[in-house]
Amino acid sequence: MTRLWVKEMYREVAKGVYYIGVDDHHTELFENLWKIPFGVSYNSYLIVDEKVALIETVKGPWSEQWQENIREIIDPAKIDYIILNHMEPDHTSSLPDIAKIATNATMIYTNKASDMQKSFYDIPLKEKTVEDLEEISLGTKTLKFIHAPFLHWPETMMTYIIEDEILFSCDAFGAFGALNEKVFDDEIDLRMVESESRRYLSAIITSYFKFVQRGIEKVKDLGIGIKVIAPSHGPIYRKDPMWIVDRYNEWTRPELEKYATIVYGTMYGYNHRLAIKLKKELIDLGVEVKLHNISYTEMSRVLVDAIRAGVLIVGTPTYDAFPFPKIWAFVNEVQGKRFPVKTVALFGTYGWGGGGVKKLQNMFEEMKFEILEPIIRVKARPSDEESEQIRLLAKAIAKRLQ
Ligand code: FEO
Repeated sequence: MTRLWVKEMYREVAKGVYYIGVDDHHTELFENLWKIPFGVSYNSYLIVDEKVALIETVKGPWSEQWQENIREIIDPAKIDYIILNHMEPDHTSSLPDIAKIATNATMIYTNKASDMQKSFYDIPLKEKTVEDLEEISLGTKTLKFIHAPFLHWPETMMTYIIEDEILFSCDAFGAFGALNEKVFDDEIDLRMVESESRRYLSAIITSYFKFVQRGIEKVKDLGIGIKVIAPSHGPIYRKDPMWIVDRYNEWTRPELEKYATIVYGTMYGYNHRLAIKLKKELIDLGVEVKLHNISYTEMSRVLVDAIRAGVLIVGTPTYDAFPFPKIWAFVNEVQGKRFPVKTVALFGTYGWGGGGVKKLQNMFEEMKFEILEPIIRVKARPSDEESEQIRLLAKAIAKRLQ
């Protein structure tokens, strides 16, 4: 068979423990939502001991390549356990393929995952549901299963090899970005990883920040050694596993940052002028400001700057008597992702008909945000009086960030 895809089929993580994941350079939108210009990896691992355990599968279209990776190490028919840390199809949609080959394997997952598996695939293999902290022996290696609800779904768990001190952390500590045969943290420029892991976290896991904090605490409380963190997306951390833990901890902690983020829409530039005017006033008051035109910054990058802002500032023109559609989509993210920030300032233009800012106000009131005064509503170009209102709003924002 001619192989068109990879130079290296697998990488050894520890003796008998192999990375067998794949890179996706074709999907444009992860979850059909989030741009992934640098691709993404679907990580899967194989543990070859007296028993053979497979940890996770990969997204369906990459199944053939992934099975090739397995075959480079062992005959997949010899797999004894298929461990499914998480049922989302980017981790499981090759399960039906491997199940046809590894016909003697037992699927191992949580009770909640069992229900999902039956709904998604109804695979005719044996299954074993595991309790939190339950262990199984593979011979010389012991696996411990650590339930990690909402990292990223309620059924999720992590798997830990006690003897090797390797934590397979699933979505937690993951990153966007294909690996391009550079699988380990010591082989990659971590500046890129930092940016893509924060974007991944913001896009996928913002709703579950408190579960990230709980997960980190839980693993700390277990007192287990961690030599390697092997997530299901992005690099494996063997040089400094705490590097990614510390970053996830920092990005999800409850305390917000002392900057303001302006997210605004504009059709013909009048609302843009308001945004710039407000930004200048804030800078004059010594406030750090991040600014995004919602039409031109990809949503996940907007989220990175908006989620942890001490004050969120949202500006919209009126469009069909409602907020600008892309701003509406952003507010939907604010609501759906249960932003930790709860203080907002609002501004907008209305041209000839009102409604945009008023409806934005209603939306944030419903979400129980504190809305700083004054709320700025301008027809097109601000009058002197309206410019003074902008100065007052800047002062209120600066005061809140002190
Ligand atoms: Fe990588 Fe929640 O799936």
